[in-house]
Amino acid sequence: MNYSIKTLNSISARGLSKLPESYEVGPHVDNADAWLVRSANLHSVEIPDSVLAISRAGAGTNTIPVNQLSGRGVVVFNTPGSNANAVKELVLAGILLGARNILPAAAFARQLTGDDNEINAAVEAGKKQFVGWELPGRTLGVIGLGEVGVQVANAAEALGMKVLGYDPAITIRHAWQLSSHVTRAASIDEVFRRADVLTVHVPLIEATQGLVNAERLALMKQRALVLNFSRAGIVDSPAMVAALESGSIRGYVCDFPSAELLNRPKVVALPHLGASTVEAEENSAAMAVNELRDFLENGNISNS
Ligand code: MLT
Repeated sequence: MNYSIKTLNSISARGLSKLPESYEVGPHVDNADAWLVRSANLHSVEIPDSVLAISRAGAGTNTIPVNQLSGRGVVVFNTPGSNANAVKELVLAGILLGARNILPAAAFARQLTGDDNEINAAVEAGKKQFVGWELPGRTLGVIGLGEVGVQVANAAEALGMKVLGYDPAITIRHAWQLSSHVTRAASIDEVFRRADVLTVHVPLIEATQGLVNAERLALMKQRALVLNFSRAGIVDSPAMVAALESGSIRGYVCDFPSAELLNRPKVVALPHLGASTVEAEENSAAMAVNELRDFLENGNISNS
């Protein structure tokens, strides 16, 4: 069958290899039957009438005008879970970075000068400021128990953390996957009150915009750590900056640099790397491609 797919981002070649050779695929395909995207923002992009479906190699769909496209009969697919392990691993790294002050400590060590005796003397004098926390016994609050949240909760529990999860809309499948040692909070505010480390794993929709706001940050323990590997808009940035400046929040580790957050010693802002592993890129692309194929060739709709 001769279907055509326009790619709007660089998509894993191994993922694309799931398409038959008869398909025309690439960034310059005109009048494509479908689009394959990763992080391209389609909100102000004109999508031609030839396009029957758009598949996103990723979980979030906030970059795609889903309602508008659905109104036109264009099917939108995503790939939930395809990159969850990659995100989980980076979240665990983020917890350790924050708990052990790894980045400021490395920056301190990088600027040392002199011979080894002078360096050792500076290390002894300076290391006290980087005393960290150990994880066993600390409480991790996980808001959102979907594909990523469940994996983060279970992994943190295995590291000895007490885990408090919250998701009013948890699916039966995710509830089954969740370790029985993870406690479920009765309210979102309970998670803010009890967490030493808080991580958010919810999609960016109207209800979650600014979910981590000044009122909720004020509920948190002194010197708690906050992580956001979901979407920038879930955390109210000015409120976070104020909490960091007042010293009430120990640090903010996120996957989204912004002008407001750059050059702040208590902020680690990565360049949207959560899903950037060879394995996750391949899984997401393969899933996105398979969804499109099944739709174009058989009319089946999954994960739309
Ligand atoms: C996701 O929504 O799963 C990620 O944003 C995917 C990506 O980084 O491309």
